[in-house]
Amino acid sequence: MPRVLSGIQPTGDMHVGNYLGAVRRWVEDQDRQDALYCVVDLHALTAEFDDTTLATRTRETAMLLMAAGLDPDRCTLFVQSHVPAHTELTWILNCVATFGELRRMTQFKEKGKGQESVSVGLFDYPVLMVSDILMYEADEVPIGDDQRQHLELARDIATRFNRRFGDTFVVPKATYPEVGARVMDLQTPMAKMSKSAESANGVVLLLDPPEAISKKIKAAVTDSGTDILHDRDTKAGVSNLIEIYAAATGSSIPKVEAEFEGQGYGAFKSSVAEAVVELLTPLQRRYGELERDPAEVDRLLGLGAAKARALADPVLDRARRAIGLLPPTA
Ligand code: TRP
Repeated sequence: MPRVLSGIQPTGDMHVGNYLGAVRRWVEDQDRQDALYCVVDLHALTAEFDDTTLATRTRETAMLLMAAGLDPDRCTLFVQSHVPAHTELTWILNCVATFGELRRMTQFKEKGKGQESVSVGLFDYPVLMVSDILMYEADEVPIGDDQRQHLELARDIATRFNRRFGDTFVVPKATYPEVGARVMDLQTPMAKMSKSAESANGVVLLLDPPEAISKKIKAAVTDSGTDILHDRDTKAGVSNLIEIYAAATGSSIPKVEAEFEGQGYGAFKSSVAEAVVELLTPLQRRYGELERDPAEVDRLLGLGAAKARALADPVLDRARRAIGLLPPTA
């Protein structure tokens, strides 16, 4: 089984786009792969963050992933800062990565643009991510296109380290999984549904109550026509709803078009709302159960951290030895 690893930021609220686009696939994949999912709270420190809510958000993100169906017995789900080896490996790799290659990172340039002050953490973000990846000897790292450069850095650093200090790290491969569904904003259907959307009405959060879900979907922007037809260029709003409905019900675009032929937008929107409510109800119920049982959530996160540490520690040890550090006395 290939070992795969993915990292998720604990920032912002997860929405239907995250779920239908990626998380649902992780849930399906957890038995076909040796999968690790890491809530990257240390990465969250590199952007503006609120120290009074960071812990809560980290927990919420982990609980949402569990509620969505990631099963801590079938995969390794853990919080990055619970495995200290990540930061230690980051330091070692900091001394292998170069200033020049980090300075060229597009994400760094974009996030740093116009900021009065930029933290060293933001500059070093890619090396922390490289540590996440090399730490678990991941064969494959499923990423979005925006993370391509970071993965190339992981490959470069692993290769450079291995060449200079002997075979230590697995050189990972990026995979670009076909996204499940590309869910667009309900208010501006030309833009992807995103946490940072201008209007909250365009984004259906996984924990939105059913009434809020219905209201947002019924208020979705559509064109002045009447036909339930898929055409992203001329009917972006309706096309988005068709795709959401198809993804939520396991149908396909042509089938949805046929199912709603001759019906108006109003009736169609009601059906989409119903389908999304039905999709999220079990997730919300499981989330509620986890929320009422914090000890169980702690136990599961402890289990994840223990599994992750057991994999990470030997790799860190190998790296320490390879680079020539004096091993501590037992
Ligand atoms: N940088 C990634 C993102 O913003 C998150 C991330 C951190 C990650 N560590 C990772 C992704 C390791 C894959 C593997 O999406």
